[in-house]
Amino acid sequence: MTGVTFLTGSGGLPKLEITTAWSTAEIYLHGAHVTYFQKRGEPPLLFLSDQSRFESGVPIRGGIPIIFPWFGKPADKPGQHGFVRNRSWTLKEIKTTDDGIVTTRLILPPDPELRADDITVEYEVAFSDGLSAEFIVTNKSAQAYAFENCLHTYFAIGDIHSLRVVGLQGVTYLDALDGHQRKTETAEAIRFAGEVDRAYVNTPHRVEIHDTARQRVIRVEKTGSASTVVWNPWIAKAKAMADFGNEEYQRMVCVESGNVAENQITLAPGGIASLKVKLSSEATA
Ligand code: BG6
Repeated sequence: MTGVTFLTGSGGLPKLEITTAWSTAEIYLHGAHVTYFQKRGEPPLLFLSDQSRFESGVPIRGGIPIIFPWFGKPADKPGQHGFVRNRSWTLKEIKTTDDGIVTTRLILPPDPELRADDITVEYEVAFSDGLSAEFIVTNKSAQAYAFENCLHTYFAIGDIHSLRVVGLQGVTYLDALDGHQRKTETAEAIRFAGEVDRAYVNTPHRVEIHDTARQRVIRVEKTGSASTVVWNPWIAKAKAMADFGNEEYQRMVCVESGNVAENQITLAPGGIASLKVKLSSEATA
């Protein structure tokens, strides 16, 4: 039955459960965090760690964390990946269209670190046979506002060893494992045999995740995004993360869409920046 139900989720945090004719999904108000999406007849699309914490003030490990207003950990910033993934958001609107697509719109309450009401942040997610997420920043102030953003999506996959990520050949990336040096992707498909942590820049193109173990292809299409980050922690980093299982690196990959590093956005007074990501999947068998 199509609709949205309010529930108490893990750690007592409020969540919305969304059901459409094609899919089921969950979104927590904590971080406006989509933790679950499953198209009928397919395994879940999003990875969520069994070890994730569900507490105010700490991010959920998996799903789609919203990274804003900075990515990574610049020396002059407190903490990693901004702070909105740790804030409690407010549900603004739920819509169901005649054709059965359910949309939720969440808003970040006025935040002193975002010049109170001057910078507003909203997040709209449409659920159907795929998922479309739009992260919207509005600059209502009289000065320009510079930021990075990223929808840090964790995908559930069958086996990292046979996974291929396609669509980034020829693109320049900053290699976080090598002092953020600039390199060029030469491979037709990225394969994984160790930790990968790369910010591909100046790439508005779609990326495909070919999951041969699950006989599924996942498509990541985007607008308003010039960067794609690809990350898998592999063995040592997995063990070092308290909120991530030691073996879970085999069942996930992050393909993140946003605007990071040299693609950071400077929003003019009165400007609106929209980052839109459409996730879809298809069996290949
Ligand atoms: C990725 C970064 O986007 O996020 C990695 O490129 C980082 O360097 C990863 O380890 C996870 O970050 P966090 O803050 O959620 O542990």
